[in-house]
Amino acid sequence: MSSVVACILIVDDTPSARETLGAQLLPEGYRLEYAASGAEALERAGALKPDLILLDVMMPEMDGYEVCRRLRDTAELAEIPIVMVTSLDDRASRLVGLEAGADDFLSKPVDRAELRARVRTITRLNRYRLLSVERKEAEQERARLLLEVTQAYDATIEAWSLALEIRDLDIQGHCRRVAEMTVKVAAAMGLAGDDLVHIRRGAFLHDIGKIALPDSILRKPGPLTHEEWESMRRHPEVAYELLSKISFLRPAITIPHCHHEKWDGSGYPRGLAGEEIPLAARIFTVVDVWDALSSERSYNGAWDRADVTAYCRDQAGSHFDPQVVDAFLGVLEREPSGPVGA
Ligand SMILES: [Fe+2]
Repeated sequence: MSSVVACILIVDDTPSARETLGAQLLPEGYRLEYAASGAEALERAGALKPDLILLDVMMPEMDGYEVCRRLRDTAELAEIPIVMVTSLDDRASRLVGLEAGADDFLSKPVDRAELRARVRTITRLNRYRLLSVERKEAEQERARLLLEVTQAYDATIEAWSLALEIRDLDIQGHCRRVAEMTVKVAAAMGLAGDDLVHIRRGAFLHDIGKIALPDSILRKPGPLTHEEWESMRRHPEVAYELLSKISFLRPAITIPHCHHEKWDGSGYPRGLAGEEIPLAARIFTVVDVWDALSSERSYNGAWDRADVTAYCRDQAGSHFDPQVVDAFLGVLEREPSGPVGA
């Protein structure tokens, strides 16, 4: 269907019959094409993909029924409307035609008004059908492209977080573990859909602001000086400045920006308290501390599960949102033992 004008393929082995049908349809403005045999009809149908085939039944070598069957057996041609033009108007012949896949019948000699009305209806319906198929294909393509872009976004985010892990040897695998666990706890607290997508991205990027820190601070084995600590405490704001310029990451910004806030208001950078702290960040904070304590780090060994659980309970109401601690421990009970997500 390459042009706006409907294409009709007229198939008849008798030249005068082809000419008669053509003459009757010509004033309607269709593009008319012709075939003089069954074999030619199949070949022309494949090349033209017409909007309608007017198909003679009685033809030598390959009759109209067989042409019809073969068209219906060819995936790319199977949907083309076929009207059989026949002098056989007995019931049995029409049944054979229907079984072969014909959509409709016209009796010879063909009535001009009936032919025009029938062709007009069928070609219009076929246009709508093709349009709806095209629309569906366009929607599928849009969905595929969206998925591709989303996967590219997520791969980029993971690469950024990996870049930080390469610099800070203490946190190998930390970003993926906390991202997966934060999503689990968020889902357990009733969050769903896009919220979880943004939470996962935010969790992966939670410490992206540390990218601005020199190795002398990031990899320092001992305690930080006051000035170094001041630089370290700026990483949530650096993350905010960085990510707020990227539109698809703006909804994910709360975790990188607020993951060092504390329920009692003693955190940083803004000293938010209670539900002033976005829920995603309150969830992440618990998971982040849990993973840090449960993992082997250069400055301390891994805590066992009972100690970390006791610590989380102890911090509920001061560092952590108590409801989040409950949800987190509920999720943890269903997890296999060992470090989070490991
Ligand atoms: Fe952090």
